[in-house]
Amino acid sequence: MIARIMEPIIKIRGLTKIYQSKQRLGLFRSRVKEVVALKDVDLDIFPGESFGLLGPNGAGKTTLIKCLTTLLLPTRGTAWLNGHQLERDENAIRASIGCMLMGERGLYWKLTGRENLDFFGALYQIPPDARKTQA
Ligand SMILES: Nc1ncnc2c1ncn2[C@@H]1O[C@H](COP(=O)(O)OP(=O)(O)OP(=O)(O)O)[C@@H](O)[C@H]1O
Ligand SMILES: [Mg+2]
Repeated sequence: MIARIMEPIIKIRGLTKIYQSKQRLGLFRSRVKEVVALKDVDLDIFPGESFGLLGPNGAGKTTLIKCLTTLLLPTRGTAWLNGHQLERDENAIRASIGCMLMGERGLYWKLTGRENLDFFGALYQIPPDARKTQA
């Protein structure tokens, strides 16, 4: 029983992300430039914990969040969120998390706070009446 309670809600094992981008060297010459943004990240976060991810610019914070929220494919390694494994169960992960990427409101900046809640509630398939009361 205790072992079940202590199961991490986020479990990351060996998560590695290497970006590859083309670097122009001249009119007809280019080479592939590699950036290791995450290198073998292991991390356990337990239910009820508040976890802050701190680091200097370029440390890989956004890359890690994007991998965990299924927005970016890791190069290798894996993670489990709410018991669902990254590359196996993307839809279940998306349905079980909430994510607000700061400064990336994109299309939704014209919506009020209440309209935002209503919109995202609809994406999570909460019925209209329940959305109204919960918002
Ligand atoms: N699409 C990309 N293509 C190539 N390299 C990238 C790409 N995105 C990020 N990087 C590089 O990966 C590394 C990690 O970047 P990331 O954005 O994850 O860092 P961060 O910790 O979120 O930084 P910041 O504090 O500035 O938001 C940096 O060296 C960055 O230049
Ligand atoms: Mg960032």
